Amino acid sequence: MTSHALAPAADQAQAIARVWDAMFWPSVVIYFAVLIALGWALWRRRDVSGDAADVQTRQVRRWTIALTGWTVLIALILTAYTALSFVQDRKLLARESNSLRVHITGKQWWWQVEYLDSDPSRQVTTANELHLPAGRMARIQLDSDDVIHSLWIPALNGKQDLIPGRHTELALTPRIVGRYRGECAEFCGLQHAHMVIPVTVESPAQFAAWYGAQQATAAAPASAAAARGKQDFESGSCAMCHAIAGTSAGSHVGPDLTHLASRPTLGAGALPNDARNLDAWLADPQAHKPGTNMPNPQLPANVRADLVAYLEGLR
Ligand code: CUA
Repeated sequence: MTSHALAPAADQAQAIARVWDAMFWPSVVIYFAVLIALGWALWRRRDVSGDAADVQTRQVRRWTIALTGWTVLIALILTAYTALSFVQDRKLLARESNSLRVHITGKQWWWQVEYLDSDPSRQVTTANELHLPAGRMARIQLDSDDVIHSLWIPALNGKQDLIPGRHTELALTPRIVGRYRGECAEFCGLQHAHMVIPVTVESPAQFAAWYGAQQATAAAPASAAAARGKQDFESGSCAMCHAIAGTSAGSHVGPDLTHLASRPTLGAGALPNDARNLDAWLADPQAHKPGTNMPNPQLPANVRADLVAYLEGLR
């Protein structure tokens, strides 16, 4: 999983990297040129010779020429930087009409991700992961439910804040298939660092397959243990905060778990997603993500095992 702003994988990150390259290398050259000029001036200062008045006149003339030239050069470079920055900035604001529409809501401390569609039955809700088709612009609407968060996927675009009561938007046009790391980039409380959003950029066909799978309601329990787990989930405290499509659990206080097992992490990057970690998470969420809004459900080991059997089947 890469997350390098200087290894851009989307048009927007490419535009930012272009500004960086164009500003960085000339600045390095200018920096060393100034140091060399300074050293040269200090060196020359020692061996002034000849008639003092004559030397002064020659020096004033040379200094005038040098400083005028330098000022003009700096003005030209700054003008070029401004023009380049303006042109590249337009690319970050460009919007395409057939964009994929996604709505991300920042919460303490996880990401709710909704794929919007004019047909509500085609909408998909997931959490703490983003899948995008390569070559198509995604317009990401950003909102926050509590405090200010900031979505940053360095390989795809710059940061954009998610501000309570105010809508913001980020466009991503990924070009290179791969997995990229996204982070919350604005300190938002105790678990700010565990607010990770892995981004999968895939071919349009792979994206369509993933999207189709996400649209389906949850898989039916495949074993007796999983069936007990489903019942515990629906009748216990789980359903007070979580939703699983196709069951009676429909709360959206916490992440939607309809396809939990297909996601890479638990607790927005707190733990890799596997059966052992899921059991550990259910046993004591606070031990793995202190401060998380998920309370300890105080479940006996056999109930946890049934829940894990059920949730691990939710691909
Ligand atoms: Cu959300 Cu930091």
